[in-house]
Amino acid sequence: MTEKVALDWGNLGYGYTRTDYNYISYWKSGKWDDGRLTAENTVTISIGSTALHYGQECFEGLKAQTARDGKIYLFRPDQNAKRMSASAKGILMPDVPEDRFIDACLQLVRANLRWVPPYGTGASFYLRPFEFGHGDNLGAKPADEYIFCVYGSPVGPYFKGGMKPISICVADVDRAAPRGTGHLKIGGNYAGGLMTRMLAKQAGFDDNLFLDPQTRTLIDELGGANFFGVTKDGTVVTPDSPSILPSITRRSVIEIARDVLGLKVEERPVPIAEIADFVEAGACGTASIIAPIGSIFYNGKRYEFSGGKETGPITRRLYDVLTAMQRGDHPAPDGWLVEV
Ligand SMILES: Cc1ncc(COP(=O)(O)O)c(C=O)c1O
Repeated sequence: MTEKVALDWGNLGYGYTRTDYNYISYWKSGKWDDGRLTAENTVTISIGSTALHYGQECFEGLKAQTARDGKIYLFRPDQNAKRMSASAKGILMPDVPEDRFIDACLQLVRANLRWVPPYGTGASFYLRPFEFGHGDNLGAKPADEYIFCVYGSPVGPYFKGGMKPISICVADVDRAAPRGTGHLKIGGNYAGGLMTRMLAKQAGFDDNLFLDPQTRTLIDELGGANFFGVTKDGTVVTPDSPSILPSITRRSVIEIARDVLGLKVEERPVPIAEIADFVEAGACGTASIIAPIGSIFYNGKRYEFSGGKETGPITRRLYDVLTAMQRGDHPAPDGWLVEV
């Protein structure tokens, strides 16, 4: 057994704690090098890096969890590898092959075992793989050289209060452009949301809900999570939209709802007008896991779900099964857990 660092595991916030090792790999002249672990947590890049000027950068987020027997598992890293490959190609970067991506994640966790929160603490080890263009560049064109890094950090809950229902407000700005890059996990999609998120927080909300940028009549997603609602008859409804990030947690929630809980699931455009019909609502993502939404503020009116302060029964069951699968307490479909 690895001796763990002395952290108050049960009270971790959602932030960066420097760990022992990071992973770095360089792409040059058409190929990736072998990659390596490094104790440094800085990279030296040219002032001409395309990431700095044109946002040629993409990233991922996934978690490692400790099971009851002490084994550590990554949750669906193949899905993160595929999504990062799509993000990279979408902004003309070479992609990291899936086996390399997963190997880098495994190496990183193995090198930082003492930072992986123990079973039962509610905390997890968050991994942040990312890729960006560097080298000496000036014009708006893809770089000739790229860096792929992975770093990680032990983290607690993303929304303070754990399963306490969050309150969100519909943003009056758009996160992504119609037919833009909203479906890719690239830095440029996030910078534009910082101001509206800050304003939402200042107004006492936990996050924003974005509408579809084309018509502003459909629900898209939250700033860092996908949305689902539950109807009176127990159907789980989640938006199908070209401008949202295809969430791996959401995909898992759909499969759990349908195949484990036997619920009806509808993945379709969801008019914002339908929020009045939902009896439960939730946000799902790697960081937020499944956060119950207590209220949505829209057009001067507050819409409440499950009384505004409770976690609805379906949201609770989805959370319980998903988190049990992630820590190995509930059988998961083949390939969902990769042992470190
Ligand atoms: C904008 C956005 N939507 C949704 C998600 C949730 O995706 P996932 O479940 O793959 O973490 C994230 C987080 O990665 C995100 O940043």
